[in-house]
Amino acid sequence: EAAEKGGYPHFMLKEINEEPAAITATVSPRVENSLPELRIPELTDEKLRSIGTVHLVGCGTAMHAGMVGKTAIEALARVPAEVDIASEFRYRDPILKPEDLVIIISQSGETSDTLAALKLAKSRGVPVLAIVNVVGSSIARAADYVMYTYAGPEIAVASTKAYMVQLCVLYLFALRLAYARGQLTEEKTKYYTAQLLHASEVIKPRLADCEQIKYLASRYVNTQSCFFIGRGFDYALSLEGSLKLKEISYVHSDAYAAGELKHGTISLITDGVPVIALATQKNVYEKTISNAKETRSRGARVLLFTTKDAEVPEGVATEVIRLDEYDDILMPLQLIVPLQLFAYYMAVLRGCDVDKPRNLAKSVTVE
Ligand code: G6P
Repeated sequence: EAAEKGGYPHFMLKEINEEPAAITATVSPRVENSLPELRIPELTDEKLRSIGTVHLVGCGTAMHAGMVGKTAIEALARVPAEVDIASEFRYRDPILKPEDLVIIISQSGETSDTLAALKLAKSRGVPVLAIVNVVGSSIARAADYVMYTYAGPEIAVASTKAYMVQLCVLYLFALRLAYARGQLTEEKTKYYTAQLLHASEVIKPRLADCEQIKYLASRYVNTQSCFFIGRGFDYALSLEGSLKLKEISYVHSDAYAAGELKHGTISLITDGVPVIALATQKNVYEKTISNAKETRSRGARVLLFTTKDAEVPEGVATEVIRLDEYDDILMPLQLIVPLQLFAYYMAVLRGCDVDKPRNLAKSVTVE
């Protein structure tokens, strides 16, 4: 097993460090003449132009990738997109129209609720595109179309590199959809595609920051309970950052859309409670900062993740982690890395079984 870990103490850390390679393997074969190519002959631009609503369905981390996908599809292509938890979708008689597209997201391709959601969509005559990591898996076989993520085998129960490349495929899809529908010019589409390809380089300094994140984790190691907040893409990342932390470090953690704080959660903010505020999106930056301030004034320890040049007003944050400048729409690719590392080091420092957390399975094939 030590050999399989390639010198890393845990599979999870190895897999986080494999993210640049996974991005390149997943994105580069799908770029031609600097434009995104889905490589699905049936999903022509004409077909993409006729899509009504996109439904993104998955469980756990895969569903969280769907949250980023929804935000990107709506922002870039202006096509309505809904995210569903597979176990909800399959039992709630979802409203599906023949012109819709269901995107099923799964690392293993074997999750039973996700497979059932796929079958339901097919039985309603709606086309299904699967984004899957495991070649030939049940979901890959049952879907009408497949876009594989090329993350390679993922061993750690907590998904990291597979999530990263699920995001990449969803961005490729959103970009092609936007281009086909005339929502993005050729020039703009090429710009985003080049930026997406560049993600493997953008995240390398974030991987190199691991000592800084480890130090940070050491300052939060005795946390009982914490909250992640953010808006838009940062909200989607709050959900995933929070899930990673609770899965492997067993720290109670919840994620909230920052604007929802005042509708309940703020009553839980007392002296010393950590609030992890994600503020990487320029359009809502001031808003999230003001929410962070509200928690700080009630005694929270605010750990703020923002971009290099963002102006952080005095007294808002206890600690600030800076990301490099990168396009706002693609920022989740950069932001997820320190969140994964934070969860990882919290788990290590708390003496948890990082790769095999209690009660969890890598692939949930029973209901
Ligand atoms: C399990 C794993 C999660 C994963 C989820 C969905 O709960 O522990 O890490 O996100 O299943 O798995 P899938 O293989 O469908 O992506």
